[in-house]
Amino acid sequence: MPFEELDDEDRGQPVSPEEIPGTRLDPHRASAAGAYGAVWGSRDTNRHDRHVAAALAEIFGESEMRDVVQQNRAMQGRALATLAGEGHDQFLDIGPAHPAEPFLHEIVCRHRPNALFGYVDHEKVVVAHARVFLASPRVRAWEGDLRDIDTILNGPPFKSFLRANQPVVVVLGAILHFILDDQMVADIIAKLRQRLAVGSVVIITHATPDDIPEDKLARALEVYERNVVRLRLRTRRELADLLSECAMWGPGIAPTYAWRAEIEETMPLLDGPHLLSVVADLHAE
Ligand SMILES: C[S@@+](CC[C@H](N)C(=O)[O-])C[C@H]1O[C@@H](n2cnc3c(N)ncnc32)[C@H](O)[C@@H]1O
Repeated sequence: MPFEELDDEDRGQPVSPEEIPGTRLDPHRASAAGAYGAVWGSRDTNRHDRHVAAALAEIFGESEMRDVVQQNRAMQGRALATLAGEGHDQFLDIGPAHPAEPFLHEIVCRHRPNALFGYVDHEKVVVAHARVFLASPRVRAWEGDLRDIDTILNGPPFKSFLRANQPVVVVLGAILHFILDDQMVADIIAKLRQRLAVGSVVIITHATPDDIPEDKLARALEVYERNVVRLRLRTRRELADLLSECAMWGPGIAPTYAWRAEIEETMPLLDGPHLLSVVADLHAE
């Protein structure tokens, strides 16, 4: 898959996204990033994205759906604050969606101002927005597809920015459920283990069928399949199997709102519909 390198002169310039090729939203279809943004209340959405958000709100409730995405991001923030506090200084977030606060690289930089933070997404418009809004020499964005993890690991994020021979924190937030093929997901984790240095960590959040009433689940999956893409939700058991060669941190696989909820957090922690979350060392001792 092609990568586009960020030209030095593109970085940090005060331009409007409308002036930059690739930053216009596609008005004709919903996307994973757009639908997520619409649930979040982001402005980077079109009417198809908002239709998906409205349909999900009808099934689960509007504030419940917003809690799902906010608790998801909050868990990633707590995990990243912990990891940056422990000295990690290289981060790669694959599938960040459109920029929305809290920005994960800012959470990291509060603890490690010199940390390097890369974003990779397969949506051109997401990458373009990241380049416009998050530009800094220590924050970079590239186009890339998680299903082709070799190209990400052999490409610009690791050629010109991060060092694969030093520990890297990889964030896979609410993205693996877009990959239907279980073997491909297992291969992605295996390749991260092979290519990244010992000490590397993965943060995963994942949609789950656990604890969701069957009728609501079926309706939500249909909304997604009809308007965005098919999803492959995974159970706690399936996530545990996926990470069987990694070392999960306490408390293991937990609802996002419950993962180390004691860590200082400005966002209220609410139980309700949720994604599953886990942090794991890629290489078990
Ligand atoms: C639901 S959003 C998650 C946003 C963010 N990671 C979070 O947890 O708050 C999923 C993101 O993953 C991206 N995505 C989906 N499949 C992808 C793939 N195969 N490769 C790269 N990005 C992908 C979408 O474009 C979107 O930006």
